[in-house]
Amino acid sequence: MAVQVEVTCKKSRIYHAGAAAQRIEIAIREELGAPISADAELCIKARFEDNLCTISIDTSGESLHKQGHKEAIGKAPMRETMASLFLRQCGYDVREPVVDPMCGSGTFVIEVAEIAAKLNPGRSRSFAFEQLVSFDEGAWKRLRDSSQGVKPAHHFFGSDRDAGAITMSRANAGRAGVSDFTVFQHHAVSNLTPPPVPPGLVIVNPPHGTRIADKKPLVALYVALGKTLLTRFTGWRVGLITTDTALAKATGLPFAPPGRSVSHGGLNVLLLQTERLK
Ligand SMILES: C[S@@+](CC[C@H](N)C(=O)[O-])C[C@H]1O[C@@H](n2cnc3c(N)ncnc32)[C@H](O)[C@@H]1O
Repeated sequence: MAVQVEVTCKKSRIYHAGAAAQRIEIAIREELGAPISADAELCIKARFEDNLCTISIDTSGESLHKQGHKEAIGKAPMRETMASLFLRQCGYDVREPVVDPMCGSGTFVIEVAEIAAKLNPGRSRSFAFEQLVSFDEGAWKRLRDSSQGVKPAHHFFGSDRDAGAITMSRANAGRAGVSDFTVFQHHAVSNLTPPPVPPGLVIVNPPHGTRIADKKPLVALYVALGKTLLTRFTGWRVGLITTDTALAKATGLPFAPPGRSVSHGGLNVLLLQTERLK
C-alpha cells in the first residue's frame, strides 16, 4: 500500500526536512517496495528534535476529531475530541441532563447524546489502518457492532441566538443519529429557562474575542449568561470553556480555581467549573 512521509526538524544537525523526507522515501520504496504518494492515507512521520529522530506511523487517516457527522460548522466550532475531553473533566454522568445555551453547531449536545446512547465515536468513518496487511476485519467488525444505540433516559438541550446555528445543529444531530433525544431551540441566552428535567450540567463555550476591541461587547454577554444561570438554574452545575478568565469572572458565577489549560489553535483554553448553584 502507498504511504506518505512527513518530516519536521528542530535544533538538529539534520535540518533540511525536505531532504530528510526524500532519503526516507527512497529507503521505503527501494527496501520495502511501498509506493510513495502525497495523497496516501497512511503517513510515516519523522521528527528530528535535539538530534533525536522519532519515527511514528499515523494509522488514523483523517484527524480523529473528524467523526463524519459534523458537516455543518459555525464560526468557532469546538472539536468533538475537545468536547469529549471537557465533558470527562466535568465528570459527566450519562444520567445527567445537559444544556448548552450557546451551542453553535451543536458539538457538546451531540457528544453527550452519543455518550448516553452508547454510540461509538468514529462509527461512521473509515480509518487508514483498515488498509494494513495485518488488519483484523473480524475484530474490527465486533468493535463496530458494539455501538449499542441504547435510548437515553432523557433529552439533551442546545440553544443559540443564531438561527443558522440551530439549523446546523439539527442537521448534525440527524447525521449522528441522535435527533430523537436532542432538542435545539433558537433564542438568546437571556431567554433561556431550565428544560423540564432534573438539574444537571450546563456546559458552554461562549465567544471570546482575541483583540481588545472585541472584548468590550462580550462583557455584557458574559454578564447576561451569569445572570440567567444564577437566577434560574438553581441545582445545576456549570462548566464554562474560555480563553479569558476576566470575561469568565464577569459572569459572577462561583467558579473553582481552574485546572491546567489545553493548548488549542495557538490559544490556552480553560475549563472553569462550579459546584451545584444555590
Ligand atoms: C464559540 S461559539 C460556540 C461553538 C460551539 N461550541 C460549537 O461547537 O459549534 C459561540 C456561540 O455563541 C452564540 N451566541 C453569542 N451570543 C449569544 C447570545 N446572546 N445568546 C445565545 N447564543 C449566543 C454564537 O451564535 C455562537 O454560536
